[in-house]
Amino acid sequence: MCGIVGFTGHRQAAPILLDGLSKLEYRGYDSAGLAVRDGDAPAEVVKSVGKLKTLAEKTDDGRAVPGCCGIGHTRWATHGEPSWANAHPHVSGNCTGSGSGPVESDVVGVHNGIIENYVELKEKLLKHGYVFYSETDTEVLIKLVDYYYHKYKIGPVDAIAKTMVRVRGSYAMEVMFKDYPGEIFVARKDSPMIIGIADGETYVASDVPAMLKYTRSVYYIGNHEMARLTAGEAVFYDLNGDVIQKEPVEITYSAAAAEKGGYEHFMIKEIHEQPEAVQNTLNAILKDGALDLSTVGLSDEEIRDISQIYIVACGSAWHVGMVAQYVFEDLAQIPVRVELASEFRYRKPLLDKNGLVVIISQSGETADSLAALREAKSCGIRTLGIVNVVGSSIAREADTVFYTLAGPEIAVATTKAYSAQLIAVYALALQFAKVRGTLADDRYRSLIDELGTIPEKIRRIFEDKERIQWFASKFANMQDAFFVGRGIDYAVGLEGSLKMKEISYVHSEAYAAGELKHGTISLIEDGTLVIGILTQQELIEKTVSNMVECKSRGAYLMALTTYGNYSLEDTSDFTVYIPKIDPHFAASLAVIPLQLMGYYLSVARGLDVDKPRNLAKSVTVE
Ligand code: AGP
Repeated sequence: MCGIVGFTGHRQAAPILLDGLSKLEYRGYDSAGLAVRDGDAPAEVVKSVGKLKTLAEKTDDGRAVPGCCGIGHTRWATHGEPSWANAHPHVSGNCTGSGSGPVESDVVGVHNGIIENYVELKEKLLKHGYVFYSETDTEVLIKLVDYYYHKYKIGPVDAIAKTMVRVRGSYAMEVMFKDYPGEIFVARKDSPMIIGIADGETYVASDVPAMLKYTRSVYYIGNHEMARLTAGEAVFYDLNGDVIQKEPVEITYSAAAAEKGGYEHFMIKEIHEQPEAVQNTLNAILKDGALDLSTVGLSDEEIRDISQIYIVACGSAWHVGMVAQYVFEDLAQIPVRVELASEFRYRKPLLDKNGLVVIISQSGETADSLAALREAKSCGIRTLGIVNVVGSSIAREADTVFYTLAGPEIAVATTKAYSAQLIAVYALALQFAKVRGTLADDRYRSLIDELGTIPEKIRRIFEDKERIQWFASKFANMQDAFFVGRGIDYAVGLEGSLKMKEISYVHSEAYAAGELKHGTISLIEDGTLVIGILTQQELIEKTVSNMVECKSRGAYLMALTTYGNYSLEDTSDFTVYIPKIDPHFAASLAVIPLQLMGYYLSVARGLDVDKPRNLAKSVTVE
């Protein structure tokens, strides 16, 4: 996610802004910038690509940008690649070149969030003579504020209110108006923002760490609320422009805890961010109840021509591919092969010239996946990247890109990116099915509606997390675990097994349930944990009989199934339930308890959950 900071007081603003941004670096970013006003002089804008230290060097640690009022930003790219032009702050006028300096603009601002309808708003503003220099949704947002400010000759608060009514999406935005020196105007919907006041000075930021150095007394601004910030004062307004009273809140936790949003580890924070990651990814491709994959760049004609899909990835991304195979083949009736990138790149794959190679990668930098992409392109095959990092190598080199909007994922063990990737493959499968005529329109629309239920159903699973924590601590000293399932349940088992191995160091294996009797069942001993994933209704009975075979050899059975399958408790020793959902999408729910189980197991064993031994977040070497 992006990070925003702001300050207005009697000290120089730039050093305070840089310090605040440094405390938000954990949020992940690819560029940064600030805008500072010295009295009623125009705002001085300085931006840089890459790490914050580049911005600090450009501004001589803030000394080169005088003024006591300013805003700052670290950008995690969602619309538009990492570049100087796309970096914030953005202005209502023009902002070209790569230099920095005073901008003759009436409005300057920064934003954290996603403006879903920025394309239509941009078209509106272009018709009114606005010129755009970036690819970002934020530039549209700032120019829209300027549009209302001039069109209705109204004050900043009213101009921002009109903007809030017009945009769809999420935002924590800070805006400075040329006519209002020393003042910062802010507005919020869904993206985080807090405001602090101390010693006659006022601070604003995305998160607590950026201001803990100055104050622990903060104001939380609510959704659809605004504020006018001056040195030592904040006046809050509702959407009607009426003043609202707010009481300060005392921050009691440490800066380190604050970086994790109050959670103990990034992984558990990111597990809980999955509803939002799924929702953001869905919002980017849903329009009036139907899929709009125009930004993905696959035309209907191209989709009709594709004869075969090859999904190539590593690790958890490969597990997403394993889920996708079942979903794609069943809905779109198109053959799908799932390949490990490290194998694909060396086996001289025989690819159908009308095939499509889909590379799934959170980082977009995994060496094997990037090499597989290049191998596919060298064979002249069309390629699509499903990537979470805008402007990453795979995103840039694939013919087309489907961006997941999970936000930066800090924990080495992926969770929210995996869930967002599932949404991407579901959407592609549905689009292929619709275009290729293998899905009736009413079924297509009902499945789209079903996708929309995933975020809330994930939240419902969190209500059961204490039971999972209890169970994980009960098995904290186990040596082996087996995950068994059939179809999509097998694919989910692969991910559950990897989560357990990579963060708790417990050896586990995922098996297609029908495969156990071909050798592996010899490993089952008294007390061996066997986890049966049972969401595919027509396969449950078969998998249960495999579990019973294990039980007769001493296994302890855990069943992971859908509410309603209560008879399974006659067989399993411990049962975890997930909400009902169309079986094509069950992986999105079934994986949650398995993520939690791996997490709690690691915590119970006192391990470094976020940075497991021997692992890197992105494997950029062979
Ligand atoms: C998953 O928890 C692991 N961190 C790892 O398997 C990861 O999924 C794999 O390295 C692929 O990374 P990518 O998605 O960035 O390409």
